[in-house]
Amino acid sequence: MEEAIHITVENPDGTTRQLEIPDGINLNLMEVLRASDYDILATCGGMALCATCHIEILEGSEKLNPRADAELDMLDTLPDAREQSRLACQIQLTPSLDGLKIRVLGN
Ligand code: FES
Repeated sequence: MEEAIHITVENPDGTTRQLEIPDGINLNLMEVLRASDYDILATCGGMALCATCHIEILEGSEKLNPRADAELDMLDTLPDAREQSRLACQIQLTPSLDGLKIRVLGN
């Protein structure tokens, strides 16, 4: 049976939405959010250079790969970066992300 990855997204207006992504899809979180109609420009195409895919991890940060230098450098430039800030384009979807909860911040 095909498994699914469930990610809860808190919208800027405080409402939440549950995304169900089929396992085996070779996408990063930025691409999933765009495909789910979130308004993310992704002008750099997922190269950790534009920060328009800025998100905050609300639950499940231990499930994620550590931030690479390029991501840390970009987050450093953001005035609204938080402790659990990430760039969604740097998070590859894997089944271990099931149960993740995030907030879309954008930039
Ligand atoms: S899409 Fe540009 S930093 Fe993520």
